[in-house]
Amino acid sequence: MSSIQPIPMKFRVPEVAFPKGWYCVADVHEVSADKLKPVSYLNQQLIVYRTQSGAAQVADAYCPHLGAHLASHDGCIADGAIVCPFHKWKWDGAQGHCTDIPYAGIPQSRSLKLTLYPTREVDGMVLMWYHPQGAAPDFEPYASTALQRDKWVLFDTRVWTSTSPYRDIFENLFDTAHIVQLHGASKMPVMRSMDSKPHGLFVDYQIDPDAEQFSIKNLEVHFTGVTALNQLFEGRGWATNFVISATPIDNESFLQTIRLYVKDLGSREINEQIGKPWLERFTFEVEQDFKVLNYKKHLTQPKLCGGDGPIYQYREYAQQYYV
Ligand code: FES
Ligand SMILES: [Fe+2]
Repeated sequence: MSSIQPIPMKFRVPEVAFPKGWYCVADVHEVSADKLKPVSYLNQQLIVYRTQSGAAQVADAYCPHLGAHLASHDGCIADGAIVCPFHKWKWDGAQGHCTDIPYAGIPQSRSLKLTLYPTREVDGMVLMWYHPQGAAPDFEPYASTALQRDKWVLFDTRVWTSTSPYRDIFENLFDTAHIVQLHGASKMPVMRSMDSKPHGLFVDYQIDPDAEQFSIKNLEVHFTGVTALNQLFEGRGWATNFVISATPIDNESFLQTIRLYVKDLGSREINEQIGKPWLERFTFEVEQDFKVLNYKKHLTQPKLCGGDGPIYQYREYAQQYYV
């Protein structure tokens, strides 16, 4: 990914807590009703699984009894019940309460519970709600209408671990000057409008088809808070949709995932003609970004000039998610 060896570059970020929002912790096909998937995000250990009704669910990985990791040793889920590997207490996967203690019977109190996180499945992602003070969700994630309307194929998925300051990753889209100076595009993209939506932000671009490698007619970007985004590119007879998520692992690193959907043109070969160059270009630009972003610092008072793009506008928007 980068030619520079990762070096410890701590304390480049002002925040003490992650922004509230919907964080991708798995892809939908990775999650099942007969296996606990352990993941490590947001400075926490979590498990992801499906309940008996088939819904994806995220829970704290630690058993409230004595702190065993529920997916360690032979910890498992069967018939909707999570069985802790340590003393075999059983937990209801959908509600979280304890349903059986093998040597003490069924607990009377329903308050003896696993910590469950509100979970949604959207556009191939399993999203968990996080709020630094534990408050309930106050908005829903963006769900692509384009992906629901037409037939698409998931062309490929790419994953990177980045040490960029977390709040700078999506801000990067509003730094239009770097698109010419770092990526070598011939023209800066023009944002026609930025509108607040219940799920976050909608950005509409004005496209100059001559300045593009691909002949794009339309580009729309939808943000889910400051944790995920959806980019829809439409051309003549083709469309691509990037479902992008960024989830902090800890204070110093996050996982960025891009899933490229291609509108199904009927055959693998034709889909590949669209998907391959898009994936190559996108991957190239992401990796170019990380060569700089992974080592940068978040400046609260950057010295911006005319032509730098709507960076402050994005920051004003993003601020509402930092509780
Ligand atoms: S630690 Fe889980 S049952 Fe004891
Ligand atoms: Fe970039």
